[in-house]
Amino acid sequence: TGTVRLAVIPGDGIGPEVTAEALKVLEVASPAGVKFEQTRYDLGAERYLATGEVLPDSVLAEVRDHDAILLGAVGGKPNDPNLPPGILERGLLLRLRFELDHYVNLRPSRIFPGSVSPLSEAVTGRGEVDFVVVREGTEGPYTGNGGALRVGTPHEVATEVSVNTAYGVERVVRDAFARAERRPRKKLTLVHKTNVLVNAGSVWWRLFEQVAAEHPDVTTDYMHIDAAMIHLTTDPQRFDVIVTDNLFGDIITDLAAAITGGIGLAASGNVNPDRTAPSMFEPVHGSAPDIAGQQKADPTAAILSASLLLDHLGHADAAAVIEAAVVADLAGREPGTVRSTSEVGDAVAARVAG
Ligand code: NAD
Ligand code: IPM
Ligand code: MN
Repeated sequence: TGTVRLAVIPGDGIGPEVTAEALKVLEVASPAGVKFEQTRYDLGAERYLATGEVLPDSVLAEVRDHDAILLGAVGGKPNDPNLPPGILERGLLLRLRFELDHYVNLRPSRIFPGSVSPLSEAVTGRGEVDFVVVREGTEGPYTGNGGALRVGTPHEVATEVSVNTAYGVERVVRDAFARAERRPRKKLTLVHKTNVLVNAGSVWWRLFEQVAAEHPDVTTDYMHIDAAMIHLTTDPQRFDVIVTDNLFGDIITDLAAAITGGIGLAASGNVNPDRTAPSMFEPVHGSAPDIAGQQKADPTAAILSASLLLDHLGHADAAAVIEAAVVADLAGREPGTVRSTSEVGDAVAARVAG
């Protein structure tokens, strides 16, 4: 019971369309006695183009003063001449992840019962596809540690240095082991490229082995990122929990979405496990400028992100009700039938309401 202070950042493109549906579902799924008090923030491309502001410090301070954040998507059309590349991605999305210490970027991937997929258990007989990627969220090549020399000349040199600290690696690896321990199969796979990225690979491998020794009940595995692409597309059943760095995790989770029902279903949580700041929940997908404003986007990823948000706030039952409603909605989808974004939101909300 009580009031949950929710910061809502609908963002750009399909962000506002899918966020509206997630809020619709969150409204009906709220446990008795829990009231969501929303604050909306108009951050994104429009505000930047109108005012030059991306994420003013005062707004960041306000956002920080909430229990959780629901975000749609940010970013404009690739290579829009008015929008320098990365300005919103780095200045808004990554700044929120870094400042609020979202070191666990949690991305569950599951072929839901009823989904039609050549990789489903019904087709392969090789078990369910149900894994979660624990993507490091605050380091790697995302930190902006790099530069460019002699830009525009034939002698241009550009670097993006991947930052991997023992502190940062150990805490995400520990979180991944704890998550694996809570799942029935208790299996954790480290994905990296230790054969080439020997400095970063060494700290990841060493700390992985070190923490593994404290968790004898967790089965461990290691895979190079390239080989992981083979196994994800041919036998994804083998994965339970995957832990990996920020960039590998970004790429793995779009592939994981594609093999488990599509990017329209993939949810994520940018989690601060220490709860020193609010965690942020958002679809894995972006602003999809190609379908924005047409009610074509599938809001399921945003709806499932709201379910992760409820779970994070301790409302596991309400979270499970949303997930069950989505599973039922997916199972009832007729191939060839197209529904609008709000029709899908209405259908899931109606199932949640019972
Ligand atoms: P994208 O995820 O926006 O789109 C990739 C493809 O998936 C497109 O064809 C799109 O139509 C489709 N798609 C995405 N979401 C969908 C949905 N819910 N339903 C149906 N189809 C969907 O990736 P992109 O095109 O590489 O990036 C577009 C913009 O979004 C860029 O500015 C990028 O930086 C930004 N971006 C933001 C986030 C985020 O806010 N978390 C994530 C990824 C990309
Ligand atoms: C994602 C996105 C972001 C990322 C971009 C937009 C910064 O692709 O959330 O997966 O790379 O993390
Ligand atoms: Mn991505």
